[in-house]
Amino acid sequence: MLHELAMRPTGIVIFGGTGDLAKTKLFPALLNLFVAGQLPSRFVVIGLSRKELTNSEYQTFVEESIAQKGQQYEKSMVREFCSHFRYVAGSFGDETSYERIKEALHQYDETIGQCTNKLFYLAVPPEYYEVIFEHLHTSNALALCDEADSWARLLVEKPFGRDLTTAQALEEKLCALFADNQIYRIDHYLAKDAIENIIALRFVNTILADSWNGQTIESVHIKLLETKDVSNRGSFYDAIGTLRDVGQNHMLQIFALLTMPPADIHDPQAIRIARAAALRTLVPRLPEQITRAQYQGYGTTTGVTEGSDTETYFKISFTVDTAMWKGTTFTFEAGKALDHHTNEAVITFLPRNLCNCAAEPTPHEHRNVLRMQFAPEQRMSVSMWTKAPGFAFSLREQELVLVASDGEETASPEAYERVLFDCITGDQTRFVSGEEVELAWQFITPILEQFKELPLYEYVPGSTGPVIE
Ligand code: BG6
Repeated sequence: MLHELAMRPTGIVIFGGTGDLAKTKLFPALLNLFVAGQLPSRFVVIGLSRKELTNSEYQTFVEESIAQKGQQYEKSMVREFCSHFRYVAGSFGDETSYERIKEALHQYDETIGQCTNKLFYLAVPPEYYEVIFEHLHTSNALALCDEADSWARLLVEKPFGRDLTTAQALEEKLCALFADNQIYRIDHYLAKDAIENIIALRFVNTILADSWNGQTIESVHIKLLETKDVSNRGSFYDAIGTLRDVGQNHMLQIFALLTMPPADIHDPQAIRIARAAALRTLVPRLPEQITRAQYQGYGTTTGVTEGSDTETYFKISFTVDTAMWKGTTFTFEAGKALDHHTNEAVITFLPRNLCNCAAEPTPHEHRNVLRMQFAPEQRMSVSMWTKAPGFAFSLREQELVLVASDGEETASPEAYERVLFDCITGDQTRFVSGEEVELAWQFITPILEQFKELPLYEYVPGSTGPVIE
């Protein structure tokens, strides 16, 4: 794979080249790939944004952004990496910007005497997607090189639409302009090692195979709880809220991996079809319980509209009426400005009632709990009941730790490294299909409608969320 990569020069164009995503995620991820030898040996990164910068000013900007992230690499290595960057000033709606991008790519082709493959990364707010898609199409910026295995691809960040109707319209446009194998819809959760572990756990371990269903699993609680507040993302966040920000995508993808039917894990198409099948089981269903809340003080965040009723926390519980999952209650809970940071799926198995009923008349329900923690650390544990030492037959719960990231020799790649690497190597497994996007919105849109009818609770920043009497 790497040998093949090294052969093919690649041009990476970042729309939003001076934005937050580029600074905090994309530059560091590209640097890590560069240092690990996982980028093509000849590549150029072209940043596009409105600021007026020269190539060398942009390279300094990239270097400074990297320094702020505190990555520990030798200065000469970072400098060499930054020398691959070029800059184009322009706006997304101006067709001449696209001509300048093409020109910058062409110049690079001339320098190396070979035509590059092209990757266009839309690291921009979603309102710019359509105009960028259209201009990329009309300017023919995705024109392929003459070589048979050349490619041109688009990386698109979420949120993809803001409800079912807008997502369908966007999807229609995208598919009319580009081929499906050119479109890489990002959900960076799919690119997390810890989350991919769900597939390993479920499909490689025989002992779980027969118990992975609603007859054995009582509940699945997916949590994405953050201590961070909305911070400097006020205007972005206020327009979408927590359900759209993480529920429509990250949490539903965790749900899909946990409940999808078995599939050939080495076949990208099969995996995407299986995830879509899992999402289809949710349609048309409305959760039995919905709670939404906002942390106190949110309204004073820069960019947030006065009196905003955007949620910064939600919790929904629902069941799935399929033969496999009948009986299990699923809960999603997510929020900002909470008392602790955790991202996990807690899978609780049905209880066994085993008691010494003469001595202990109230039966104790013994449940096994499988806890898959994805962040802040990757960790999997299962609670098991064992006999406590002694004459009496009394039980105690002990934790069996399956995976801990501490001490691993090979670190997990950062999600954005995986996103970029997979796009360059043409692996769509960890990207969302158009069908998945649509199914996710089919489930989420009625909940958003329902939100309008429901009270918006308040909670204290740094607490466990709303207290509902
Ligand atoms: C992003 C959301 O998609 O995911 C953020 O826009 C959220 O609001 C983030 O904080 C969580 O991702 P991670 O990788 O930090 O768990």
